[in-house]
Amino acid sequence: MSDWAIEARGVRKVYGEGDIAYQALRGVDFRVARGEFVMLSGPSGSGKTTLLSILGCVLRATEGSVRLYGTDITAAKERDLPSLRMSHVGFIFQGHNLIASMSVADNVGLLLELRGWSRRDARAESLRLLADVGLADLGDRPPRDLSGGQRQRVAIARALAGSPPVILADEPTASLDAQSGMKVTETLKALATERGHTVIVVTHDNRIYHLADRIVRIEDGRIVDEPHA
Ligand SMILES: Nc1ncnc2c1ncn2[C@@H]1O[C@H](COP(=O)(O)OP(=O)(O)OP(=O)(O)O)[C@@H](O)[C@H]1O
Ligand SMILES: [Mg+2]
Repeated sequence: MSDWAIEARGVRKVYGEGDIAYQALRGVDFRVARGEFVMLSGPSGSGKTTLLSILGCVLRATEGSVRLYGTDITAAKERDLPSLRMSHVGFIFQGHNLIASMSVADNVGLLLELRGWSRRDARAESLRLLADVGLADLGDRPPRDLSGGQRQRVAIARALAGSPPVILADEPTASLDAQSGMKVTETLKALATERGHTVIVVTHDNRIYHLADRIVRIEDGRIVDEPHA
């Protein structure tokens, strides 16, 4: 088994073809250790969401290789990507994407039921995951009853369902006030430091940078070593 949680080499991503082809990633080499809490920052359009989506088996790289816990996801067949994603990655999308018509607990348990868990076991596990993120009593409420920060923590609980080793979050604090943003970030950090998950957070939010083990900067589709002032 590889020592690295994530190993990306020479990753390129081209959107579109011919005259409208756009190279969003221009050769990204990026490694993350197991249990590391990394923030990925960079200007709008620099390729952050693209990189996160490739690491999360949501998008395919045009070129290059990506290994997650030793498994080469770039060599995988298209039809195997969803199951690779399920076993390796919990994704927290920007804007949390909770289903409004379902209770908070059902939002968290849905993926477990899709994986074949019984309804009863999925519910017990989702209540446990919600308690872990400080939302023990809110399982039966609809998402609209929760604050922005609480919803973002539901999204974290949902990403943890099935305990994938890698947790990827795309701008989880973007719509939150400073205090909720800090709490959400602390929850994500604890997943790495206390539970051994490998966590990458895409963020522009300089209020939370101090919590990172490492900040990686991406500009114009490339990783740059030194943050620009
Ligand atoms: N589906 C797509 N088709 C064509 N171009 C795309 C597509 N998705 C992203 N791009 C382009 O690729 C580049 C990188 O996009 P990406 O979403 O990864 O940036 P980002 O760093 O996440 O930006 P932001 O901070 O605004 O979220 C941008 O120039 C974008 O316009
Ligand atoms: Mg983005």
